[in-house]
Formats: sequence, structure tokens, C-alpha cells
Amino acid sequence: MKTKILNALEAKRGEYLSGEELAESLGVSRAAVWKAVESLRKEGHKISASTNKGYMLETVSDILTEKGISSHLKPGSHVSRVICLGEIDSTNSYAKKLALSGGIHGTLIAANHQTAGRGRRGHTFESPAGTGLYMSLILKPDADISRFQMITIADAVAVCLAVEDLYPKARGKLGIKWVNDVFMNGRKICGILTEAVTGFESGEIESVITGIGINVSTKKFSPEASGIAGTIFTEGGLAFGRDELCARVADYVMDFAEDLGSPAVIQAYRERSLLTGHDVTFMRGDERMSGHVEGIDDTGGLIVRDPSGNIEALRSGEVFMIRTEETGS
Ligand code: BTN
Repeated sequence: MKTKILNALEAKRGEYLSGEELAESLGVSRAAVWKAVESLRKEGHKISASTNKGYMLETVSDILTEKGISSHLKPGSHVSRVICLGEIDSTNSYAKKLALSGGIHGTLIAANHQTAGRGRRGHTFESPAGTGLYMSLILKPDADISRFQMITIADAVAVCLAVEDLYPKARGKLGIKWVNDVFMNGRKICGILTEAVTGFESGEIESVITGIGINVSTKKFSPEASGIAGTIFTEGGLAFGRDELCARVADYVMDFAEDLGSPAVIQAYRERSLLTGHDVTFMRGDERMSGHVEGIDDTGGLIVRDPSGNIEALRSGEVFMIRTEETGS
């Protein structure tokens, strides 16, 4: 019934539909319509109500702009500059070049479309126009280089918290597959690629680029990606715009970067860890290993117990959950 009401409102997004009309077409009482609308609102759908006119699904602006993103940043945000691009090969590549030519800590680059979005291990990240959020941040955190891996952990938590804030319906449905893939309802909705930028002269890591790609309403994926990729909004309208999501994610990442590896962030990560309690396989050199995931340690490592009972913490690499079939990203 809620879905039917949402679909009816979606078909006339931006226009009012009377409660009576809705009730009649669905064969329910007006009170039942009101109750369902209230419940949809609690899930995050922006529905206006007017005594005379009825209910209307608001038009959420989903145009990504510098102004829109900036207007959603919190007061005192650590995001120092916002650059929004219509189309770019990759926001990470753009951010890298910018970092090398003086781009400052907290610079946010967002794009509506990436023509050559990059994923980990040389994979591409499908980045169609208008339906996803592709963003990168330049970070020059005042922290030991060894803590830079915590940025990826921070990103994954930032994405979960931002989506949960803006879309209460997603609460309890988001999970993180170590180390940095965010899943919703069993499908990967977000990938994260963090890269170090080394100064030409110093040869040292001068900044870190952290890139986040989120499938907000992307419904079509290539055959290679369609087995695992998913999207936040699979049906109905958007409950939030990409500019708001972008600002919220960036604010969380920048706040977490102030105190990399804070216990609160690790705890938030642990609570959403999808691999904990599962059997997994992973590669050590050329050897395929198996083990049981005990949890996440204080530095974001994956604690695995091997069949002989030895415990080790994995720091990087790909881990596959053992189910009836193996899944990975
Ligand atoms: C992965 O899942 O393998 C990581 C995907 C990372 C994609 C994001 S989109 C924004 C930024 N720009 C890129 O080219 N890649 C990252």
C-alpha cells in the first residue's frame, strides 16, 4: 500500500493528489492514506500535505552544482573549496593534478559524470551522468603516513552515516565489506579509491586523494558489474539530492580526518562490518588462505582466525566471503 501511494505520487511528482482520490483509487480509507504518508515521510520521502489540496511528492533538485553543495555544508565545515564539474575523466586524476599544483587540504571535487572513472586494482568504475555521485577530496592530514589507511575506513563510515542521516529507510540496510565497499541490501552501492600523491622533488607523500563513487539512482550496469552493483534508490523518487549527499559525506570525511582512527569511527565501522562472523578466503602471495573473521581491530585491520586457530590481522588485499558462491568486488 505504501509503495502504491509512493508510485501514485511519483507519477505526479510536484503536483498535489487529493487524499480522497488516493483513498478511492486504492480502496482504503483517507486515514489509512494519511498513515501511509506519515510512514513514507519517516522513511525520508519529502511529501508535502495541504488541507485543501492533498499530498505532493516534492521535486528534489538533483542537479549537482558548486552552489548546491556549498549550501549544504555544515557551519564551520573543514571543506575548504568546492569544485563541481559537469564531465571529467576521473575526479581522482583531476584532484591529483590539483594537489601537485598547490591544491589545499579539504578541496572537494565533484562530478556529474566520469568518462574514465577508476576503481581499485586497475578496474574501471562505471560513472554514468546524472545518477551517481563521483567525488574526491584532497587531504593533507597532520598525521603519520601509516594512519593514511584510516582514511579509507573513515570514508566508508562517512558514506554510511550520510546516507542514514538523509534516508532513514536505509538504516540497518547498509554494511561495509572490508575494506572499503559499501553495500545496501546485499549490493555494492559505493566504491572508494584512496591514492597517495608523491611530490616530484621531495619523493615523499605530500597529500592523499580519496575518491568516493556512489550509485544513487543508477539502474543500468554493464554485464560485468551487474552481478554485484546496486543503487540506493531502486524505485520511487529520490529522498535527497546528490548535492546534499556530497556535502554530508565530505563533512563527515573532513571531520574524521581531524582525528584519523578515532575509536568512535572504528566502532561505527565494526557495527557495519559485513564480513565479521563469516568464513572467508584471501590470497597471501600466490597461496589461497581461508579463515574465520573475528572482527575489526583498532587500526581497521581484519582479524582472521585460520583453521589451526592462529589469529592474524589483514591490512590490505581482497577478501572473499565463503557462501554457496563466493562474492567479491
Ligand atoms: C572501487 O570500487 O574499486 C573503487 C571505486 C572508486 C570510484 C571513485 S568515483 C570518484 C573517484 N574518481 C575515480 O576515478 N574513482 C573514484
